[in-house]
Amino acid sequence: MNAQNRFQFLGEDNLDEISAWLRQNLNGKRLAILADDNTAEACLPILDSLDDDQITNAELIVVPKGAESKSLEIAEGVCENLLEQNYDRNTLLLNLGGGVVTDLGGFVASIYKRGIQFVNIPTTLLGMVDAAVGGKTGVNLGYSKNQIGRFAQAEQVFISPVFLESLPSNEKISGFAEMLKHALIADRKHWDHLLQKSYNKLSLEDIRTSVLIKEKICALDPFEKADRKKLNLGHNFGHAIEAWFLEKGKQIRHGDCVAEGLVIESFAAEAKVGLNPNLAAEIRAGIRKFFPKMDLTSKDLKALLKYLGQDKKNKSGSMRFSLLKDFALVQFDVELSMQEIEQSFARYLEEK
Ligand SMILES: NC(=O)c1ccc[n+]([C@@H]2O[C@H](COP(=O)([O-])OP(=O)(O)OC[C@H]3O[C@@H](n4cnc5c(N)ncnc54)[C@H](O)[C@@H]3O)[C@@H](O)[C@H]2O)c1
Repeated sequence: MNAQNRFQFLGEDNLDEISAWLRQNLNGKRLAILADDNTAEACLPILDSLDDDQITNAELIVVPKGAESKSLEIAEGVCENLLEQNYDRNTLLLNLGGGVVTDLGGFVASIYKRGIQFVNIPTTLLGMVDAAVGGKTGVNLGYSKNQIGRFAQAEQVFISPVFLESLPSNEKISGFAEMLKHALIADRKHWDHLLQKSYNKLSLEDIRTSVLIKEKICALDPFEKADRKKLNLGHNFGHAIEAWFLEKGKQIRHGDCVAEGLVIESFAAEAKVGLNPNLAAEIRAGIRKFFPKMDLTSKDLKALLKYLGQDKKNKSGSMRFSLLKDFALVQFDVELSMQEIEQSFARYLEEK
């Protein structure tokens, strides 16, 4: 399927394209809907307002909101729920939620009865521009992020800012970090535009630009053998910070961690792949416009190194990073020694 065909970008006036797609594609399949407590309350009514029997007759499975739902235990619970309702292989799972629901639902769909079809309706900005795009699904293992998972593509992804209306703005900013990352990877104009615009005033077109940057890269390299690694910019440290805070019992937003990772790894990029220091400083200033510095100290480094060591991007014990060489130029599989990582972190700590 070509990238553009997998996505429908919908406004308020053509949301009924969801019903039209279901009418054409259910073909006797039974529909089940996966949501979390928040999206069941805030987003399901939007689907219900389509007044479509296919949707209102579907079984609704609700998981608790938050990162804890991305676990094997919850995935098993969702499978049990489907089984109890006699859902067979001829099932379409509709994932209605943020990255937690689309990652979990995509994973369940990829394993239930050895695989059923699914569609994503992302309801967070992060879900729209990132989690629901590109076919990575999975759950966490303990505090370690996304350690169990599968590549599985949604049949269709419906993206509409209508679902963002109920999303608190502190959640919107999380997706904005990924949009900034996409701009760094591919499109200087998009970066300048986003910095002017900010996360509360995004248009469907802005979202579409980000989605298509990611989808284009994923379509070229779906299983992350090469170019897709560019999307890991900022993510070694980003995931390590997220896991470390989770271990400490403090849940923080994925996007905040990615923003911090982009800043920390920009120091490594200067030292290792020759990112121009002025450009690096400009990029950090752009990120800091929206993401204040996190409360990390040299005492956190040991724990962060533990999680950096578990990163899926590593190979045979060496730590591999994707680093920005220039705007729209990312070098991936860059090996950093322990000393180089420590130096980058030290420079980050010195940053005002
Ligand atoms: N698969 C991928 O490629 C990929 C990429 C990036 C991130 N992710 C994953 O995505 C997850 C984070 O996603 P997220 O930030 O969307 O988190 P999330 O799904 O937990 O959503 C954030 C919060 O917003 C609530 N919410 C969602 N939509 C809402 C709406 N429209 N109105 C009101 N509340 C709403 C949720 O209930 C939750 O409390 C992480 O687990 C991360 O690993 C996956």
